[in-house]
Amino acid sequence: MRARERHGTVMAAGCLVLLGAMGSAQDKPEAKGPARHIQQERFWANLQKLSEFGKNPEGGVSRVGFTEADLAGRMYVMGLMREAGLTVRVDPAGNIFGRRAGMENLPVLLFGSHTDSVPHGGNFDGDVGTLGAIEVIHALNEAKVKTRHPLEVVSWTNEEGGRFYSGLFGSSAAAGILPADVAERKDDAGQKLSDWLMRMGGDASRIAAARIAPASVAGYLELHIEQGGRLDEANVPIGVVQGIVGINFRTCTATGFANHAGTTPMDRRQDALAAASRAVLAVREEVRGEPGRQVGTVGWMRIEPGASNVIPGRVVFPVEVRDLDAGKIEHVAARILQRFEVIGREENVQIDCTQPDLHPPALTTPAFQDAIRASAREAGLTTMDLPSGALHDAQNAARFAPMGMIFVPSRGGISHAPMEYSSPEQVANGAEVLYRTLLRVDETK
Ligand code: GLV
Ligand code: MN
Ligand code: MN
Repeated sequence: MRARERHGTVMAAGCLVLLGAMGSAQDKPEAKGPARHIQQERFWANLQKLSEFGKNPEGGVSRVGFTEADLAGRMYVMGLMREAGLTVRVDPAGNIFGRRAGMENLPVLLFGSHTDSVPHGGNFDGDVGTLGAIEVIHALNEAKVKTRHPLEVVSWTNEEGGRFYSGLFGSSAAAGILPADVAERKDDAGQKLSDWLMRMGGDASRIAAARIAPASVAGYLELHIEQGGRLDEANVPIGVVQGIVGINFRTCTATGFANHAGTTPMDRRQDALAAASRAVLAVREEVRGEPGRQVGTVGWMRIEPGASNVIPGRVVFPVEVRDLDAGKIEHVAARILQRFEVIGREENVQIDCTQPDLHPPALTTPAFQDAIRASAREAGLTTMDLPSGALHDAQNAARFAPMGMIFVPSRGGISHAPMEYSSPEQVANGAEVLYRTLLRVDETK
C-alpha cells in the first residue's frame, strides 16, 4: 500500500476516533476542517500528569536533570511509552528510546525531546515534544497505520544541563561529542555523574557506546514550544525552524583576596566581586558591539565567602554566547576573554575561564522544512519560518541524520519560567503536524 493511500485511510480512522471521544456521530455535527489524528484531551492530560513530578509552588516544575524529580518523571515517561505499545530501552547515556517496528528493513525515524527542566521552569519545554511523540504513536496505533521505517520515540537525558554538564548531555553522547572527562565529573557536593547514570539505567563506563551511527537513522524530528514571542504575536500556529543557534559556554572564576571590609583601604583591595561585576557588563558590551542577533548571558554568580563584612575573595560565574553563525560566536567569545584580562589587571584580580563546552549551530534539512510546511497546510494550519534562539537536542541529531523542528506558540514569549504556557489546542496542532510530517518523511525517504 502506498503511503499516500495510507494517509487517506488514517484520516478517516482518526476522524472516527475523535468523534468517539466526544460523542456519537449522530448527536454531534461533523467537525469543521481537516480530520485530526491526535487526541487533544489525552495529550493534555498526560502533560498535566507529567507536571506533577518536580512541581514547584509557582505552578511550574523544577525537574533538573540527574535529580530525584527527574528520575520520577523518566519512570512516568517509560510507563507511557509501554502503554503505547513501544519496546523501551535505555542507552548508556540514560537516553530513553521506545521502538515501534516498521514494515521494511530500513533505518529508524527518530523523534522526541526531553523532560528535564531548568530550576523553577515551566510545564512545556521538552515535555510537549516527548509526550507529543508518544501521542503520535497512539494515533498511529488507533488508525492501524504501519510505517515503512521503524519508529523510535526518544527522551534525551539532561537537555538543560542542570548538573555535571552544560546542556544537551544525552544527544551529545549520541553525536559522540562529549568531552573525554565527562564520565568522571562530580558536583560541588561530591556526587558523581556515573552514580546518577547508573540509577537511570545508563553506564558511564560505556558512554561511548551511546553514539548513534549516521546510517542507522533516516531522519530526526522534534516538536517544541517556540520559547520566544514571534508566533504568539503574529497569531501563527506552526513555526518551521530554519536553524538552531550554537553556544560557547565557559565557567569563569575571579580570584582576589578575602579581607576585612572595614579595615582594608579602597586602594588596597582585590575585590573578586567588583571584577566579576565589571566582567558581566563587559559581556553585554562585547555582544552588543556589532550588529546581529547574537546574545550573551551571565546567568548566576557564586560569591565566596559571602559575608557582608568580608571583601569577596572568589566569584564563580558562567558565560554563554549564542548565535546561528559559529564564526561570530567564536570572535565575540574571544573579545570577551580579552576584556576579562584587562579587567583582571585593573582590579588586581585573576580571572580564569575553563575551556568552552561548544555546541555548534545547525541548519534544518530543507526537505524536512518542506514536509512540515506541507503537513501544516494539509491540517489547515498557517506557518512561519523562524530560527531557534534556544538550544535543542535536534542540533546534535543533525550530526547523524537529516533534521527538522516544529514550533508551537509560547504565550507572551515566556519560557524557562513557571508562567510558560501553550494551550491544549496549540500543542495538539503541533502533534498533528508531527504526525503528518512523520508519515510524509516515511513515504519519501
Ligand atoms: C535550553 O533550553 C537552552 O536553550 O539553553
Ligand atoms: Mn527544550
Ligand atoms: Mn529549555
